[in-house]
Amino acid sequence: MVKYLNEIPTKNEKLIKWVENWAEICKPTGVYWCDGSKAEYDRLCDELVASGLATRLNSKKRPNSLLFRSDPSDVARVENRTYIASEKQEDAGPTNNWIDPKELKKTMLDLYSGCMAGRIMYVIPFSMGPIGSNIAKIGVEITDSAYVVINMEIMTRVGSKVLDVLGDKGEFVPCVHSVGKPLAEGECDNGIWPCAPLDKKYIAHFPETREIWSFGSGYGGNALLGKKCLALRIASVQARDEGWLAEHMLILKLTNPKGEVKYVTGAFPSACGKTNLAMLIPTIPGWKVETIGDDIAWMKFGKDGRLYAINPEAGFFGVAPGTSRDSNPNAMDSCSKDTIFTNVALTEDGDVWWEGIGYDAPGTLIDWKGNKWNKETATEKAAHPNARFTARACNCPVIASEWEDPAGVPISAFLFGGRRPNTVPLVHQSTSWEHGVFLGSIVGSEVTAAALDLKAGTVRRDPFAMLPFCGYHMGEYFQHWLDIGKKTPADKLPKIFYVNWFRKTADGKWLWPGFGENSRVLEWIFNRCDNAVEAVETPIGLMPKSSDINRAGIENEVTAADMEELLSIDIEGWKKEVEMIKTHYARFGNKLPKALEEQLAALEARLNK
Ligand code: GTP
Ligand code: SPV
Ligand code: MN
Repeated sequence: MVKYLNEIPTKNEKLIKWVENWAEICKPTGVYWCDGSKAEYDRLCDELVASGLATRLNSKKRPNSLLFRSDPSDVARVENRTYIASEKQEDAGPTNNWIDPKELKKTMLDLYSGCMAGRIMYVIPFSMGPIGSNIAKIGVEITDSAYVVINMEIMTRVGSKVLDVLGDKGEFVPCVHSVGKPLAEGECDNGIWPCAPLDKKYIAHFPETREIWSFGSGYGGNALLGKKCLALRIASVQARDEGWLAEHMLILKLTNPKGEVKYVTGAFPSACGKTNLAMLIPTIPGWKVETIGDDIAWMKFGKDGRLYAINPEAGFFGVAPGTSRDSNPNAMDSCSKDTIFTNVALTEDGDVWWEGIGYDAPGTLIDWKGNKWNKETATEKAAHPNARFTARACNCPVIASEWEDPAGVPISAFLFGGRRPNTVPLVHQSTSWEHGVFLGSIVGSEVTAAALDLKAGTVRRDPFAMLPFCGYHMGEYFQHWLDIGKKTPADKLPKIFYVNWFRKTADGKWLWPGFGENSRVLEWIFNRCDNAVEAVETPIGLMPKSSDINRAGIENEVTAADMEELLSIDIEGWKKEVEMIKTHYARFGNKLPKALEEQLAALEARLNK
């Protein structure tokens, strides 16, 4: 018998049956339907503090904020435990892990059996996107983690309004989550983050039936299932079938000194600068950047033939290390209150600290593992490199007034980029849509700490920054992008640019200051969208004349010679790049679109001229 802890707030039979079925499998002590209210959020926070899993921060320094320390084995997405369980292996493609869905469901049902013993099953109805927007989608996550509930209440729109839109017959994406740590009679977590060992973790997606099953991890994208699992892996499949785009992209609003506005999206791999770009403070006078979203964009064609984007999320799950008043003051303000911190360090006065916060660690800290930490004696970092803050979008000082417009915002430019210490110049533009898709398909980046099982520092290809997030065959995904370009006249399509903020000198120093200074590149991009500035044709694409990137005020930091280097084309480096792209493309076999093969051959020919 399923025990309900509160009244069932919906008449949607399918939803009620689904919840009941999972309660029977997982055997929680009770089922609780979340209403998304402030009272509920506050109560769960108090319970998490009382249980020892959370520390309440100093209310004068960080009002209404909590700190969590995860298990050291559960600190990031786990790509080698993430599965696209399509019916046919071929449909998952060479870049995704695959298990036969029947087999995987059998394995996971064994794990789910009784997995919520001693815990409450929370039911979270959520909307990805402004409630009622025709681009938005409804999901329902069941979870045995109150940490997940409070994070979902920041990251998505939760509650009765969602159930109103769902109605009695509406469709939702079912998302099942358990931390995978049943409690014995009388046992409790004792303040230790619950999760399952690595070989029992599964982050599973069933694209045909649009289902998400997650087991064993409580961290970020593994557990907040609206984010990568629904809004990217499942949504990318829906977008392919329905003719739209679900992308790992920030969305920003750019206003020039004349008050003219353009909206730009950017796809950069995990921990490669989306949040920073989305919130940047331009260093060039008269320009303004405002934020629509910092991680995910859903785009559909409007009646005028242009692509309109919404941010499906309602908060930021941002990388803490490296975030400072200098680098990203708007992110610092966003997490100044009402924030959940995970795996940062705790100061003596109940505030947070991390590497790159902009000032020395004050006194003795408690590090992310819960140990005393002192900068004089420390051998390890105080905060985990993938430590994160969960902050409300509405607390961002530069959130754009239209960020929740259900119609979305019309996009003028797509940016692609990654961490490339060499070869790839500061900015170049595609010569056509097909060439732009080529640029997206060859995105490469030095690996970061955002995924647990990869070696940081090595370059890997991460096409469209979607390598870990595309829910189907990457070759078909490339074709989908090519098809999108045929759906509307070329002048309605966003222009496509490739940027690289991460060039380094031979002795390992940044060649480009980045952050707010990236506005200088945005200025060129803005003007290119209006054909207001000329570009130079080069073998790799259209490039600025070095005098067309505004250096006023940074002439000493970025000398004319530096600028030449940032915009130079390293022909030998690009020839090596071509060889790497050939290896990368070979993975996709006969699913690699011909148009991209031709783009690669044409690039090679231009380099050899
Ligand atoms: P996810 O949330 O994992 O998808 O990451 P993200 O793409 O939003 O990355 P984010 O903006 O959080 O940046 C990650 C790291 O890159 C931080 O440590 C930043 O300080 C650093 N970073 C961001 N922009 C720049 C830049 O322009 N130059 C340099 N050198 N570093 C940057
Ligand atoms: C990323 O890794 O791209 C993130 C963090 O945005 S997570 O939500 O954990 O996937
Ligand atoms: Mn991301």
